[in-house]
Amino acid sequence: MSPEFDPRRLRSHRWFGPDDLRSFSHRSRAKQLGYSEADFKDRPVIAILNTWSDINPCHGHFRTRAEEVKRGVLQAGGFPVEMPALSLSEPFQKPTTMLYRNLLAMEAEELLRSYPVDGAVLMGGCDKTTPALIMGAASVDLPSVFVPAGPMLRGRWRGSVLGSGTDQWRYWADRQAGVIGDCEWREIEGGIARSAGHCMTMGTASTMTSVAETLGLALPGSASIPAVDSAHSRMAAESGRTVVELVKRDARPSTIVTASSFRNAVVAVLALGGSTNAVIHLIAMAGRFGIELSLDDFDALSRRVPILADVRPSGRHLMEDFAYAGGLTGLLSRLPDLLDLSRPTVAGGTLGDALSGAGVHDDDVIRPREAPLAAEGGIAVLRGNLAPDGCVIKHSAADPKLLRHTGPAVVFADYNDLVARIDSPDTAVNEDSVLVLRSAGPQGGPGMPEWGMLPIPKRLLRRGVRDMVRISDARMSGTSYGTCVLHVAPESSIGGPLALVRDGDPIRLDVPGRRLDLLVDGAELERRRRRWTPAPPRPERGYGALFREHVSQANKGCDFDFLARPGVTDEPEIH
Ligand code: FES
Ligand code: MG
Repeated sequence: MSPEFDPRRLRSHRWFGPDDLRSFSHRSRAKQLGYSEADFKDRPVIAILNTWSDINPCHGHFRTRAEEVKRGVLQAGGFPVEMPALSLSEPFQKPTTMLYRNLLAMEAEELLRSYPVDGAVLMGGCDKTTPALIMGAASVDLPSVFVPAGPMLRGRWRGSVLGSGTDQWRYWADRQAGVIGDCEWREIEGGIARSAGHCMTMGTASTMTSVAETLGLALPGSASIPAVDSAHSRMAAESGRTVVELVKRDARPSTIVTASSFRNAVVAVLALGGSTNAVIHLIAMAGRFGIELSLDDFDALSRRVPILADVRPSGRHLMEDFAYAGGLTGLLSRLPDLLDLSRPTVAGGTLGDALSGAGVHDDDVIRPREAPLAAEGGIAVLRGNLAPDGCVIKHSAADPKLLRHTGPAVVFADYNDLVARIDSPDTAVNEDSVLVLRSAGPQGGPGMPEWGMLPIPKRLLRRGVRDMVRISDARMSGTSYGTCVLHVAPESSIGGPLALVRDGDPIRLDVPGRRLDLLVDGAELERRRRRWTPAPPRPERGYGALFREHVSQANKGCDFDFLARPGVTDEPEIH
């Protein structure tokens, strides 16, 4: 305990401390819950924001983990209060959890602000839960520790290893091509997700929990621990002990995270071969810390940072292997020259301290610098007349033959049109075609669904085609792969150039040159632009309308304008 800790300075003291009628009410209601003064008096109140839900398999272990966090909080002299928060369950929530990332961020921020809370443990992991909780905690700026859910165990099928998402799509393509049958397909269904925990490929979940750790907001070593490993329980308890110490030191997220922490996080994403979704989330998270991070920062670093994690979809292994090979700290220990090692972490030391004992135990999974999976980071930012504000491609998970490609556009007006026509014999398409999907951006989706890995037409699959150039204003699951150009900004629904493409227009993709161009002359495009009319906005009411009216474009992180605004929201009055 720090000697200068004075419980009267606790934020919660305003609720529990004074000798007035309001505080009488707060104390009597705490007693109603079965707590004595000894339980809460002068103790830091720690909110445990638990995104557990019966319908979120990635957080299936969070009820137990929350108890373990409480154990740690109690040991360190805090008063733990578990609060359920919106569970964004990637597999089940439609049209996309991205529609609700900002809602969870708002909920996290307002829970922490409106209740007598001195510090927080943020329990997340399934894709959007991690950025959402951190965005909320950053905006309220109370001492916080992020507890990553951890990856589930490897999938298995008949002696093969199965990876979340990645192998489901791979084997689906085989099934569509008639290579595997119903019986095999059902066996894969039972073997691909074998325990609690988030996707165990290098999808958005593994990428973003690694970001949280690299930023210093989760305990060093925490992000890679498999969800059902007993080390995960010990990490949960340690996180509880840690947050109480943070409160006593008044170590807020804003004292831990700076622009160079975000630079470190970008390096981590690139070296992991991480999800393209990280680009959007990191820009939004940085914005909440008042830090400007741009697409160009990603591209500049991506030319210098090698991919060292040989994990699917860019590589071969899975997160369980990555953990045993040394995990994130092992990987980062191979990149000291690219990191600012002086950044603090919630553990109390610096990132450099966290990496000092770390090492790699399997060069096959975490590659040495002299034998990287790819010499350049996996995410490239492209610009051109088709994407004036930028777009991204995960070129490490694309067919190298397609990275420089010109082909005729086959345009789908929206996702329903895509589903209706992709396999129609009337759709003129061959392996050189460039598939274009519109109305899938932040406003158009709405919520920018993960439709960016457009399906390859069945008749081409049967001929052995497994990759094509695909372009959209959508996102793509971090576990996906293929030559998919994503996040085209501005999006088609607000009149971005994607809205002007017609069937047969030649499109040129040049990833090494970082270009994406529609090879149609400017005067013709201008004519089309004048004739373009937007579709009626939908949804017309409710949260969907709020989202559509306030969300920023992908290159700005898709945060709401009123949340990304600088400034501090007032502390609540206690009446
Ligand atoms: Fe939850 Fe992939 S479904 S992380
Ligand atoms: Mg995902």
